[in-house]
Amino acid sequence: MKKTVLLLMMMTFAWMAKAEDGHQLWLRYQPVNKAKVTGPECMAAQELKTYYQGESVHLVIDPAMEEDAYRIKVKEEKGKKVKEISAKNEIGLLYGAYELLRRQGDRETGSQDITSKPFYKLRILNHWDNLNGTIERGYAGLSIFWKGKEGGKTRRGHTIFVEDPDQPIDTELIKEYARANASIGINGTVLNNVNASPKMLSAVYINKVKQYADILRPYGIKVYLSVNFASPMTIPAKGFNGGKPVKTADPLNAQVKAWWKAKAKEIYAVIPDFGGFLVKANSEGQPGPFDYKRTHADGANMLADAVKPFGGIIMWRSFVYGAAHPGEDRVKQAVSEFKDLDGKFRDNVILQSKNGPLDFQPREPYAPIFDNIHQTKQMAELQITQEYLGQSRHLVYLAPMWREFFGFVEPSRLVGIAGVANIGLDRNWCGHHFSQANWYAFGRLAWDPTLTSEQIAQEWLVSTFGPAGDSSRLTGDRFLSGCNASANNLTGTCPLSGLLSVMLRSREACVDYMMPIGLHHIFAFDEHYGPEPDGYNPHVPYEWCPVYYHQANKDSIGFDRTHTGSNATAQYREPYCQLYDDINTCPERYLLWFHRVPWTYRLKSGRTVLEEMTFHYDRGVKEVEDFIRVWNEAKPFIDDQRWQEVDARLQHQLDNAKEWRSTCLNYFGSFTRP
Ligand code: GCU
Repeated sequence: MKKTVLLLMMMTFAWMAKAEDGHQLWLRYQPVNKAKVTGPECMAAQELKTYYQGESVHLVIDPAMEEDAYRIKVKEEKGKKVKEISAKNEIGLLYGAYELLRRQGDRETGSQDITSKPFYKLRILNHWDNLNGTIERGYAGLSIFWKGKEGGKTRRGHTIFVEDPDQPIDTELIKEYARANASIGINGTVLNNVNASPKMLSAVYINKVKQYADILRPYGIKVYLSVNFASPMTIPAKGFNGGKPVKTADPLNAQVKAWWKAKAKEIYAVIPDFGGFLVKANSEGQPGPFDYKRTHADGANMLADAVKPFGGIIMWRSFVYGAAHPGEDRVKQAVSEFKDLDGKFRDNVILQSKNGPLDFQPREPYAPIFDNIHQTKQMAELQITQEYLGQSRHLVYLAPMWREFFGFVEPSRLVGIAGVANIGLDRNWCGHHFSQANWYAFGRLAWDPTLTSEQIAQEWLVSTFGPAGDSSRLTGDRFLSGCNASANNLTGTCPLSGLLSVMLRSREACVDYMMPIGLHHIFAFDEHYGPEPDGYNPHVPYEWCPVYYHQANKDSIGFDRTHTGSNATAQYREPYCQLYDDINTCPERYLLWFHRVPWTYRLKSGRTVLEEMTFHYDRGVKEVEDFIRVWNEAKPFIDDQRWQEVDARLQHQLDNAKEWRSTCLNYFGSFTRP
């Protein structure tokens, strides 16, 4: 008895000494240096030799296979089971190797063969990182790519960062980043903010981009850049006009075309596999072709011609409002601007659109641009960083939201997926340990959009909190105790099933306490964190103001987007056009998004609008209370540091959910009080 207690204590201390901080993400494999690996000496071989717990693996190059696909076979050799991974090239082998590692231990496939290929060719992270090291909508510290230096303080005492191209790059960190991405199939990365500085295309930064491309290449990751459309007006291009910039950025101007061609040549000379450009034009103050009375097609095609000889692509964003159709309902403007241009884009242009027509709200109806564009390639842009979903302070698992989107927009309508990254210099990369799950889910869904939210969450939970070798053996094994994870069948007392349930309910909870029955964009100005339903500022565009979106007065609330209002419903294909337009068939989750209703209106529950809102706010708060209960129950199974850090955030999430409830009910309630 004494011996057992002593042993347990020793194990506990051993584990405590190796506390986990989340830096290893879902890749917590411990080196076992055991497997014999035959075949090409490549990254896949290295990973398997170090981390695979099986005996031996054969790596086989099979040129007949599709790009990035892999096949894993189980063979018998001298009475032993041996794995064979085949792929067209070393990157496919690497994807296969990560699949094997993911399945080792409990979930090993036994004698089943596996074949897998990515659904999308383009699986790209978008970093909104600025050259001074800050990140737009970044909630996990400063940029891993760009470092600035201190350039003074703001009046409030915050550090002002300025660009500093002399800062060295962190090769080791970028390798870790590359490995994490490769392990979930991500194969591209846009290194800078869509609100792009023209300096991104200056020689000194192109040289940095080359260094990043060299680190990322062995992991199958291509680099792309966001570009400022007016770059030719300030930045020299190698071999163009003696280094002089151009006086205009008009896409039909011969000098401008020549500048972009020279710039493309300059980039491809040092990065032959450079991916291409991402462009935000004529939106939120960014320059674009409209400044010269040209169309988005004129702008995109000019850039497309410049990168075409090198195999590059242009991802042109449809997130535009305010420039060409000022005053029009903001959610309609993308279709208004792009519908007539359909078919006028070069074949290496892809229109990149956010999943919803507004701006990454916790719940939006799908963006109807996906219904209106038929002859132009399209990509969806999802937001991994939780700008409007509690940022890195709330536990909100986003896969259910993205799966919901795919329920309306067939994955096959798209040629790729982009995800606005949630990665920063924080030790755990994403600020919140559970925000790592969103990075993970993005990659897994870009590989296979038919994976369920549950499958992905389970995979992530097991690899993030389950057994991972020595350091977490104690907690990790107990984490899985009572779970029948291999059979995808989680039962009662298993902490995994509790956490799985929390993850799967978390997005709906967030919708409940932030935007019940279709309320939207009532976030605090600019920071988009807490509630500010009374937000109005005459000095900013009206469509930045919360009051524009709910339009509450003493009689009614909601935005009439039906045929009697802005007629945004007409942009949808049937049956959604009719369905959303008619208040009797419109799903109540979108009620105040599409309809304006009197306060006396009763929902299907029999409750009035305010009563229904109250019901949802209460339910959202109760859900967070329950998340805390589950997290407390999971405490014995989770290592201390990560448990404490998540706990602190959950407590904060609860406070914030309550703040949403009280602020919104006070404000909206004031309209109905006599
Ligand atoms: C949102 C976000 C901005 C971002 C913009 C975009 O409005 O708040 O920070 O620049 O989207 O996607 O371009």
